[in-house]
Amino acid sequence: DPDVFQMSKTLMDEEQRLVEVQPYLQPFCLSAQQLQDVSARLQKDLIRGLGKHTHHKAPVKMLPTFVRATPDGSERGQFLALDLGGTNFRVLHVRVQKDGQETDSKICAIPQEMMQGPGEQLFDHIAACLGDFIMAQNLKEQSLPLGFTFSFPCEQKEIDKSILIRWTKGFNCSGVEGQDVVKLLKEAVHRRRDYDIGPVAMVNDTVGTMMSCGYKDQRCEIGMIIGTGTNACYMEEMRNVQRVEGNDGRMCINTEWGGFGDDGYLDDIRTEFDVEVDRTSINAGVHIFEKMISGMYLGEIVRLLLLRLAADGLLFDGRTSEVLRRPSSFPTKFMSDMEEKDTGQENTQNILTELGLNWDPVDVRVVRLVCATVSSRSAHLCAAALATVADRIRANRGLDHLKITVGVDGTVYRKHPTFSQRLQAMVRLLAPQCDISFLVSEDGSGKGAAMVTAVSQRLALQSRL
Ligand code: GLC
Repeated sequence: DPDVFQMSKTLMDEEQRLVEVQPYLQPFCLSAQQLQDVSARLQKDLIRGLGKHTHHKAPVKMLPTFVRATPDGSERGQFLALDLGGTNFRVLHVRVQKDGQETDSKICAIPQEMMQGPGEQLFDHIAACLGDFIMAQNLKEQSLPLGFTFSFPCEQKEIDKSILIRWTKGFNCSGVEGQDVVKLLKEAVHRRRDYDIGPVAMVNDTVGTMMSCGYKDQRCEIGMIIGTGTNACYMEEMRNVQRVEGNDGRMCINTEWGGFGDDGYLDDIRTEFDVEVDRTSINAGVHIFEKMISGMYLGEIVRLLLLRLAADGLLFDGRTSEVLRRPSSFPTKFMSDMEEKDTGQENTQNILTELGLNWDPVDVRVVRLVCATVSSRSAHLCAAALATVADRIRANRGLDHLKITVGVDGTVYRKHPTFSQRLQAMVRLLAPQCDISFLVSEDGSGKGAAMVTAVSQRLALQSRL
């Protein structure tokens, strides 16, 4: 029967092709053993970052945040908040009340050129958006305290003095690195002369996320972001924070784990595709770990893999398209769409068509497999890093067993269909002595910034009493 013959031949082709694709994907499949090893390396790097004499060369910066307490629920007041460094730039008005929080907010677009133009122009734009919002909300007369969620590595000297170490992700404005961001913001506001702001608290998005979840759940002592970039913060014992005076209590540390591997420590697990993504990025050589994990880069890794598989005759009959050859033409959102359980196959077909590719059913399977492989590695690497942090907190406190909550945010964690499950399953395996709950933050960068401002006011008040 020629039909049956044809069918079994197609089936063989299909199996054959999936087998031939394996060697390309193998380097992305990290075993539990390898992940444990990654976790052990990060553990060493956390210590290097905290150390007085090792910090200056440490790729994982472990930055003090001057946040010394998580919320206790008694915080009240009205705050302004700014959120820069995620998917959108936003301005917020947050009211923290007995029965919860109310927020009004506005998204302001930041044009691409501005993200890589002069810093003064960026801060003028921020001050203008804030001004419009303050006028619209009728807050002009109040000079409210402001929480500034600024999601980049900053050397903080105090809660309101924060020097940008370097831009990451899509930003690269001139004249800001090495400067105090609070000063740049205030100067821009004062240049306008039409409104003023109260005291400013600088907040990393991880910290905002931890603090906003901390309002609901007092076990929340880790904040994690897996979005455009990736990073985490956690409550460290002051005695281990060698770069800040004092030994009592705790302080939140912004790990900046995105920089893990910047000294070559992860070279053995990086693939040629990771190397290429880094080489063509606007900040080659930095944030190596982030470039294997976060939303800004995952789609690009997949795109490079697809191009290679096509070049080697394993996809699209050996042909590609002009669109697919263009950098950044495969956003990470496509991976989420393609990996969707029920609609994924159809989504993949539509996307491939839209990218101008000629596909057959086996191509669809291979492309989905490529996406799943790359996103799984990301989830597993995050799990390894999170396991390190949770286990450090456990050991710090001399516990056999730690129960802790992680406040999480970011588009990859929120929107990808399987990412959070994969991450959670792997963390359980890698940190068996920790019982970790995950709480997705509701608007962490906005409300969290208000919460940091509120907590710092509460502590200031308490220390005066
Ligand atoms: C980048 C930034 C870091 C931020 C993270 C998530 O890694 O350096 O500060 O927390 O992105 O937005």
